[in-house]
Amino acid sequence: MTMYPDQQKKLKLIREAVEEQLAARSLGTRSPEGLFAPIDYTLRLGGKRIRPLLACAAAAAFTEAWQRALPVAVALEIFHNFTLLHDDLMDRSPLRRGQETVYRRWGDNTAILSGDAMSIEAYASLAEVADKSLLSELLPRFSQMALEVCVGQQYDMEFETRSEVRVEEYMEMIRLKTSVLLGSSLELGALVGGATAEQARALYDVGIQLGLAFQIQDDLLDVYGDEKTFGKPIGGDIVNAKKTLLLLYTLEQLQGEELKRLQEILTYTPEERRAYIDEVRALYDKAGTRLYAEAEIERLTSEAYHGVEQLPFREEGRELLLALFHTLSGRTK
Ligand code: IPE
Ligand code: IPE
Ligand code: MG
Ligand code: MG
Ligand code: MG
Repeated sequence: MTMYPDQQKKLKLIREAVEEQLAARSLGTRSPEGLFAPIDYTLRLGGKRIRPLLACAAAAAFTEAWQRALPVAVALEIFHNFTLLHDDLMDRSPLRRGQETVYRRWGDNTAILSGDAMSIEAYASLAEVADKSLLSELLPRFSQMALEVCVGQQYDMEFETRSEVRVEEYMEMIRLKTSVLLGSSLELGALVGGATAEQARALYDVGIQLGLAFQIQDDLLDVYGDEKTFGKPIGGDIVNAKKTLLLLYTLEQLQGEELKRLQEILTYTPEERRAYIDEVRALYDKAGTRLYAEAEIERLTSEAYHGVEQLPFREEGRELLLALFHTLSGRTK
């Protein structure tokens, strides 16, 4: 049985409106092609469009006219795609949404510069919000979020070569690199919909919990997912010695020879580690790591549900948000 059928229909409608607005920016036809074709390529590859959906659903929690949130929604999606261009270069990842990544196809410099252009385009879209008096609220929040994503990405990289990372440090890192963008999607969408700063902030907090669950799920799919569905290479985080919750928990649980073995694999170079993805996965299994991560995702997701159930929303918006959260839990891509 499909859950939330009416809301799924509405979300599809919102998604179509987002696609239309993205296409209307006509990034594909601008010149020089070397700068804009990779942007067009990235945006056309789709993706789940979670962030714009969150923004529009949050607006719908306060107004019937959720369309007002479209410039913000598009800004968030373009910004997200910008971070992916740079992230794939930093993570040396060959595949995104089932296709070759931009730096692989066009080179490092293209990923850098087309990415830069996208971050600027994101601001251009944000500035197109119809009620200009909102900009003094939206801009500083957007900028703070954008800077925090950079801080999170920096920690993510620094942790690769650090042997001791605490779980709290990992949680703070993913809060920064992933959650703040989901939180801001809800917050900015709500503000455009007419929420008070407090109401919008409460939704931001919901987005933080949701984002933590979202990133742990991403880390889980990186190890246990199916490359065809997930669209990204399986085992990339193991190769890069990313200090994911899975790795940290496994290091905590294992003892004796098994622990030594995992620690030894972590001293290899990324290229060498490529041959040990299956062995590391087997050690995760041994430690019960998958079940632990799934329980954490469940815990964080129910906190997000709870947050939405408590807030004084228009019922339609609340249901849209719950339907969206529902599609996220148990996602395979
Ligand atoms: C990928 O984000 C980056 C993370 C924060 C894990 P998504 O999983 O939302 O990627 P797309 O946009 O759907 O491809
Ligand atoms: C996502 O982290 C964080 C950002 C893109 C800011 P990942 O490196 O895990 O994302 P994927 O798995 O490559 O999408
Ligand atoms: Mg990555
Ligand atoms: Mg990364
Ligand atoms: Mg990942």
